[in-house]
Amino acid sequence: MTSSAPPISRSSANMVDGEFAFTEADFRKISAMVHGDAGIYLPEAKATLVYSRLAKRLRALGLTSFKDYCALVADAEGLDERQKMLAALTTNVTRFFREPHHFEHLRDKVLPPLLDAARRGGKVRIWSAACSSGQEPFSIAMTILSLMPEAVDRDVRILATDIDPNMVAEGRRGIYATQLLDGVPPDLRKRWTTPAPGGEARMADEARALVTFNELNLIGEWPMKGRFDAIFCRNVAIYFEDDTQARLWSRFAPMINPDGALYIGHSERVQGPAVSLFRPDGVTTYRRTAGAAA
Ligand SMILES: C[S@@+](CC[C@H](N)C(=O)[O-])C[C@H]1O[C@@H](n2cnc3c(N)ncnc32)[C@H](O)[C@@H]1O
Repeated sequence: MTSSAPPISRSSANMVDGEFAFTEADFRKISAMVHGDAGIYLPEAKATLVYSRLAKRLRALGLTSFKDYCALVADAEGLDERQKMLAALTTNVTRFFREPHHFEHLRDKVLPPLLDAARRGGKVRIWSAACSSGQEPFSIAMTILSLMPEAVDRDVRILATDIDPNMVAEGRRGIYATQLLDGVPPDLRKRWTTPAPGGEARMADEARALVTFNELNLIGEWPMKGRFDAIFCRNVAIYFEDDTQARLWSRFAPMINPDGALYIGHSERVQGPAVSLFRPDGVTTYRRTAGAAA
């Protein structure tokens, strides 16, 4: 009789060849934690990405297996590392004036009546939800300043939030490598950024004064009480499942003033029960319908 190796169960088989054992059970634990914490859905096809992004963390911690890493991040003592895991697994890609048609719509259709009202004492509120390192809210700020250089003296404010504290810190710093300013129209770049040491550029004080950065998880509680005239929520819902996306669009509706704007990412669509709460007003651009009041 020939002896044969015991069968390897699917959950204990290695998913990725590499320095550290990484089983399907490890992957499932990590994806469940990321889903629970941030709403982000990681299909099995992302196993290699998860491995490569977290292998650095295992090395930094001197761990030898993903099993040990999972035990650490599942433990109350591992809260700090859990945050680092989330930061490593989220995609922070962003650019100044990304999807420029949104900023043209904001400048030409949304801001003119709002800024007129602000000149007469009214307030303007815009939310950049999932702002990454700040290029999106600063693009909004420069768009406002292009129409109203004295905006900071009026009641005009931009709230910029992200789940990742490192991104929030970068936004607050407001200093970028000069080549990252490529998407900024030259006149705005000249007026609202200043050269900083080391080949960097600093956002002008007028732009910084318009933006407040805070940590906020879109699938958690939102402390804001007032409504917004426009919400930018771009290129984050794509990482959520359909029902999480639908819940998000429905939660935005009562947070937006009647006829206020919602800008979403190029591969996202308002779907589900929220469809009746918004009307399309351009490419991935929506307006809140009157019936959507809270
Ligand atoms: C690809 S960036 C998009 C940045 C910007 N909105 C843009 O379109 O250029 C996605 C951002 O969403 C953030 N994010 C992921 N899950 C989140 C959540 N549950 N709540 C808030 N922000 C989240 C990430 O930290 C990341 O900075």
